[in-house]
Amino acid sequence: MQNTVHVELGERSYDVEIGPGLIPTAGARIAPLLKRKKVAVLTDETVAGLHLEALRDGLGSAGINMEALALPPGESTKSWPHFERSVEWLLDQKVERNDVVVAFGGGVIGDLAGFAAAVLRRGVRFVQIPTSLLAQVDSSVGGKTGINAPQGKNLIGAFHQPSLVLADTAVLGTLTARDFLAGYGEVVKYGLLGDSRFFEWLETQGPALASGDMNARVEAVTRSVQMKADIVARDETEQGDRALLNLGHTFCHALEAATGYSDRLMHGEGVAIGCALAFELSSRLGLCSQEDPSRVRAHLRAMGMKTDLADIDGDLPGAEGLLNLMGQDKKVVDGQLRFILARGIGSAFMTSDVPRDAVMSVLKDALSTR
Ligand code: GLY
Repeated sequence: MQNTVHVELGERSYDVEIGPGLIPTAGARIAPLLKRKKVAVLTDETVAGLHLEALRDGLGSAGINMEALALPPGESTKSWPHFERSVEWLLDQKVERNDVVVAFGGGVIGDLAGFAAAVLRRGVRFVQIPTSLLAQVDSSVGGKTGINAPQGKNLIGAFHQPSLVLADTAVLGTLTARDFLAGYGEVVKYGLLGDSRFFEWLETQGPALASGDMNARVEAVTRSVQMKADIVARDETEQGDRALLNLGHTFCHALEAATGYSDRLMHGEGVAIGCALAFELSSRLGLCSQEDPSRVRAHLRAMGMKTDLADIDGDLPGAEGLLNLMGQDKKVVDGQLRFILARGIGSAFMTSDVPRDAVMSVLKDALSTR
């Protein structure tokens, strides 16, 4: 089973190919983009150990040569020092304006390589070959690239769309259960923000997906990417609708900051908990029924995912502290916190009109269960 989702952005349009076995055939898929048969690949050491030779063979079968730089795995790679090293390496490889850079890895590599491609020689094309579920359903699509600053995550970057995305669902089989479920947090987010039938489908198919059912995985990635492609086509630079993709993220970013962007909480885990809290807040504001947050939490629980603040190990700040961390989110506009709330499962909307007391009471109650 293989699907293609088209991201319609005029001259910057591209396809996202989804299915098992795309890496072994990557050469034939990338060849139409190349002016000469050579690519520079940015990856991380973990992905390189598992899959780089398969990519080399896949490119080689179409006569494409590849040079690769493997960076250390982990969020700290999304920083100036590794960015500088990557850009200088690409220049050392004599990557020219018409060449193509390949981002081969999870969200960290995709964001860093995309940003390197955005600035190298004032912009070269790049191909995303995402290897984590999170990267396949979210970060490889839509052209957000960048690195972190000491002041916060993703504060330095550019919109730079890839020319092609190859989401090989076979590589998801090498993810740890925790990594897979963290990516699944983003999949659930799509159902919750815009498609109640997709959420219903996940409620029944989620366990099969997690245990490796390839058709279910392809279907889940395809539906997620299709939703993202539709939103990005409407609002590439997040002037409006694209913000819906941040469902759960205001809470998530505060929790990530509170846990020091460490192994205590992966981004996708924070998104899942954040979605549960966003539905709780929506219900308390009378926007959706009381059953909705319970249903969201029940599904996350059934999947064995982090669902509540009690699932985060170690200390957390109090409600006031978390609220302050939310205020430092880059999505704050004119000092106003923006929330994505929901009128029901599949019906998210953005608002700046959320009483501080309501947020405080949701946080206090959530913290009291710890
Ligand atoms: N990950 C959210 C976005 O791409 O807009």
